Amino acid sequence: MHFKRLRGTHDIYGDEARGFERLEAAAREVFGVFGFEEIRTPVMEEKELFTRALGNDTDVVQKEMYEFEDRSKVRIALRPEGTAGIVRAYLENNFDKREGLCKFYYVGPMFRSERPQAGRLRQFHQIGVETLGTDSPYADAEVIQCLAAYLDRAGAGGYKIKLNNLGTFEERKHFKGELKKYFEPHQKGLCEDCVRRLEKNVFRILDCKVESCRKVIEKSPPIENFLNAESKAHYAAVCEALDAVGIKYTHDFYMVRGLDYYTKTVFEITHSKLGAQDALAAGGRYDSLIETFGGKPAGAVGFAIGVERLLMCLSPEEPAQGPSANTFFIATLGEEAFREGFKLLSRLRVRGVAALMDFSAKSLKSQMRSADKSKSRYVIILGEDELKKGIFILKDMTNGSQKELGLKEAVDSLVSLRGTN
Ligand code: HAM
Repeated sequence: MHFKRLRGTHDIYGDEARGFERLEAAAREVFGVFGFEEIRTPVMEEKELFTRALGNDTDVVQKEMYEFEDRSKVRIALRPEGTAGIVRAYLENNFDKREGLCKFYYVGPMFRSERPQAGRLRQFHQIGVETLGTDSPYADAEVIQCLAAYLDRAGAGGYKIKLNNLGTFEERKHFKGELKKYFEPHQKGLCEDCVRRLEKNVFRILDCKVESCRKVIEKSPPIENFLNAESKAHYAAVCEALDAVGIKYTHDFYMVRGLDYYTKTVFEITHSKLGAQDALAAGGRYDSLIETFGGKPAGAVGFAIGVERLLMCLSPEEPAQGPSANTFFIATLGEEAFREGFKLLSRLRVRGVAALMDFSAKSLKSQMRSADKSKSRYVIILGEDELKKGIFILKDMTNGSQKELGLKEAVDSLVSLRGTN
């Protein structure tokens, strides 16, 4: 029987696994500098958590959630995103009762049953941050600055930041009504999906990429006309703070988001290397979610980056790093030398030195091939003759030079050799 991985899932290994590791390490470093601490929430939660947070009429809730009933008849969903679970954890662990705001970052798999294509998976990974418990526009600017700093550090230059102001739920209610009034007489110019959206979720029309729809959308009333002074002032303060720290962005007054919890600032990061699925990261403010989940009213803002998409954006000068250049490879000839080599391997590793041996390769030639493949800097050659003399041969793979070293003091001399590189 041959099992295959599920559609839209992938096995991560080799360069991609190294890429993940590097991106995660960079995230911990950059987010730490910005004062975020890691949080790991479960990959499964009550389904209702997502329905309430993301909105019942969103594509994610309607079509994309992996959900099931467990043995005790609880309706469960695999998390399609990280924000809802973090707000739940924030309240459940009483972080809202502590003084000051809460800043979390997270890394992990998300699940959406979408039609798989390049850059769109059913199990994908996000790296994100959430700041909870503040209304300050500086928090919005801080997460955007943090995102830009991270993308720069990761080597994903060439991205674009688009910003919009979605106002409050109240302001949007009014806007929604006006949008409906505007689009209804233009139904002929809209695609089938948009005609459906007119009834279900009129905002999503603004996001449509179909040419004929774009023409109608361009003349629709902009959300700005429906925002009150407080929302406008908040957005202006975010922009001012971004300008002050030199973050470049453009306004996209027709940008809406696929999740319903957003209020005021929303942003999207696109990258030219991504093609049709060009959103590399996205986020925004969600000032009503904490209250929706039973907490005292408090603001929050965050973002998430798609890790698989980020890997697609890295420039070739930023390759995921291969095995350590200082690795020692131990090649042996004969049973006794093998046993001695195996002991040396263990002693090197105990000292924290990366060392390899190929247990199945028999001839010296095939062991040298393995050494080459592993990109080891040095090969330690140990045959019966060397063993008798109490030495081993150290070959430097960068220039082919060889020298003999004493076996007794092997570990110390190899450790100090590594130190000189
Ligand atoms: P989102 O826009 O749904 O936002 O997803 C964020 C990012 O996840 C996208 O920009 C994309 O890079 C990646 N992504 C989404 N779906 C897929 C997929 N099927 N395959 C591959 N990558 C994908 C959120 O999830 C919000 N929780 C972001 C946020 C945090 N807002 C506030 N805080």
